[in-house]
Amino acid sequence: MREDILGRSRVEDTDELVQFYRRLETMGAGALWTVANDIEPWYPQPKSVPMLWRYEQLRPSVLESASLVSGDDAGRRVVMLVNDGRKELSAAVGLLYTGLQIMNPGESMTAHRHAASALRFVIEGEGAWTIVDGDRLEAGARDFLITPSGTWHEHGNDSASSPVIWQDGLDIPLVNTLDANFYAVHPELHQQPGKVVNTSLREYGSGILTPADRGWSKRYSPLLAYPWERTYEALLARAEVSDGSPYDGIIMEYVNPLTGGSVMPTMGAHMQLLRPGQATLAHRHTGSVIYHVAKGCGHSIIGGQRFDWQENDIFCVPSWAWHEHANDDDRNDACLFSFNDFPVMHALDLYQEAAYTDNHGHQTVEDTLEPATTVQQ
Ligand SMILES: [Fe+2]
Ligand SMILES: [Fe+2]
Repeated sequence: MREDILGRSRVEDTDELVQFYRRLETMGAGALWTVANDIEPWYPQPKSVPMLWRYEQLRPSVLESASLVSGDDAGRRVVMLVNDGRKELSAAVGLLYTGLQIMNPGESMTAHRHAASALRFVIEGEGAWTIVDGDRLEAGARDFLITPSGTWHEHGNDSASSPVIWQDGLDIPLVNTLDANFYAVHPELHQQPGKVVNTSLREYGSGILTPADRGWSKRYSPLLAYPWERTYEALLARAEVSDGSPYDGIIMEYVNPLTGGSVMPTMGAHMQLLRPGQATLAHRHTGSVIYHVAKGCGHSIIGGQRFDWQENDIFCVPSWAWHEHANDDDRNDACLFSFNDFPVMHALDLYQEAAYTDNHGHQTVEDTLEPATTVQQ
């Protein structure tokens, strides 16, 4: 008997056992040993697969959606990105959802709220705004915004000529898996925002000071808007004094300024900078990650598959999949925005991480000739 199957189910079917299983089924019961090896794997077995979605391939369809359906009829006009292994949950990876939302010039939507938490990463267009619990946030390309669980929100585009496209990230699959989602339309359909925009940024966005006379009891960040310019400045400043992580380069987390923790209880977000020509070492960890190429071009190797990426492409790393990143430009840096479910992993004591130690820390690529992408034409 092999040691690795000691304590594992190895019962073989007999006529008598099959009859027994059928009788159990009629009673709403079952024999654990028939499924034990599946539900108690040696290590995580994600159903999600690594995928890359090319922005230039998706963009025409996103634009087309803006003429096919109205924002209010659709509720939200979003082309969602669906993992081949997670179609039943509409998840992009693990229990995370993502999609590309488009708003036509001058368009605005009604307000609603839900138990699921949301975040936005603006891709293109000027004039994007969202009102989150009465705070009007105005944002441009590469700005990051949060819409925490239970906050009223409505979006729009003030531009006269260009559409706004941003990436939505939500924990919908997680919240639905927990049977904990709620949704409500604002009783007056719209909020009454204050006169000053980006109030939270003015109060909580200094980076080194927080208001001393304000209490905050929510579990999410009181800062709702994280501008790109300040994010990039922070990365460049750190790059002057640190090598950062061997697995991620100069990586920094968007934080709740009051706690230093993740922006929301279920999702965290990072921006990382890869120096010109930098190739990171491979590692893996529990928790799923969705990346957005904020700047530059390069490739990532995920589970032995190579994915070449350029600006605005989106790709995912399933839980426990080996991954490493490389900036293929020898002159310019590359920046990857990402969001994840790490706060859930940490809160439940399920976070684990491991370094890839073979082959000088780099995976063997299965297929270097045909960069893997599973996006359907
Ligand atoms: Fe929403
Ligand atoms: Fe990682």
